[in-house]
Amino acid sequence: MQLTDPKGKLYSFTITSGKEWHTHKGWITHDDLIGLPEGSVVSTTAGLKFTAFIPLLSDYVLSMPRGATIVYPKDAAMIVGVADIYPGARVLEAGVGSGALTISLLRAVGPGGSVHSVERRQDFADNATANITEYFGAKPSYWSLDVGSVQDKEFTEEFDRVILDMLSPWECVEMAARVLRPGGVFLAYVATTTQLAATAEALKEDGHFTEPESSETIVRGWHHEGLAVRPQQRMIGHTGFLIISRRMAPGVEVLARRRRPAKGAYGVPEE
Ligand SMILES: C[S@@+](CC[C@H](N)C(=O)[O-])C[C@H]1O[C@@H](n2cnc3c(N)ncnc32)[C@H](O)[C@@H]1O
Repeated sequence: MQLTDPKGKLYSFTITSGKEWHTHKGWITHDDLIGLPEGSVVSTTAGLKFTAFIPLLSDYVLSMPRGATIVYPKDAAMIVGVADIYPGARVLEAGVGSGALTISLLRAVGPGGSVHSVERRQDFADNATANITEYFGAKPSYWSLDVGSVQDKEFTEEFDRVILDMLSPWECVEMAARVLRPGGVFLAYVATTTQLAATAEALKEDGHFTEPESSETIVRGWHHEGLAVRPQQRMIGHTGFLIISRRMAPGVEVLARRRRPAKGAYGVPEE
C-alpha cells in the first residue's frame, strides 16, 4: 500500500491484518485499509489524512531496498520499448543488481516467456530475489537467477534478447553473439561515454552485429498551477546511455559502412 500526504510525501508498506501504521499524529490500522477501493482518503486516529493507492511499478522500484543503483523507470521503459521485449521472449539479463529492470523485463515477457538473470554478487542476488518475490507475491516460475560472471557461463539455450547493465558490457559481446538467435537484440545500459565507446567498438569488431545505435533519455517534468505552466526546476540530469545492435545471420558479414570516419575519431594518426 502507498499512502500520500497532502504535501505529496509517499509512505509505502505491506498490509498485514492486525498491524498498525504509526505516524507522529496517530495511527491507521491495516485492517481499515483492507477492502478499500484504491484512491480512497484515510485518516489517522488524530485526523491526519492520506490518499491510498497500490504502488505503481515505478513507485515500487524507487522505494525498494537497494544493493546496486537501479535502472530508473524512464530508462526501464525505454529498454523494454527499444529492445522490443515482447510477450513470450527469452531474455538473458546481467547484472541483476537490485532487480528493478528485471521486474520490467518479467512483466514484458509474461509467463509465456523467460528471463534468465546473472549476477556476480551473491548479496545483490539475494536482495534482488527478495524485491522481485515481494513485487510478484511469489518468485515467478519463468525467472531464473545464476550467481557468477555472465561471460563465464555456459548457456545451452538460445535467447531472443541480451540485456546488460554492468560495468563492462564490451567483455560480453562475444558471449552475446554465441547465445543470440539471428535477429536477436543486444542492448547495454551504460553510465559513461567511455563505456559507450568501448561497447560500440566491441560490437563493430565482433563482426556478428549490425551497426550499433545509441541514445539517452531525458525526461523533464512540468509544473502547472493556473497559468503558471513551466518546466519543473529539478530533474534527473543524467542516468545512462542505451546502446543497441542486432545479431546477423550465421556466416553473413555486416555490410561495410559507406561513411568515412570523422577526422580524429580513432585518435591522431602518427606522422
Ligand atoms: C548497476 S547494477 C544493475 C542494476 C539493475 N539493472 C537494477 O535495475 O536494479 C550492476 C550489477 O552488475 C553486476 N555485474 C557486474 N559485472 C557483471 C558480470 N560480468 N556478470 C554478472 N553481473 C555483473 C554487479 O555486481 C551489479 O550488481
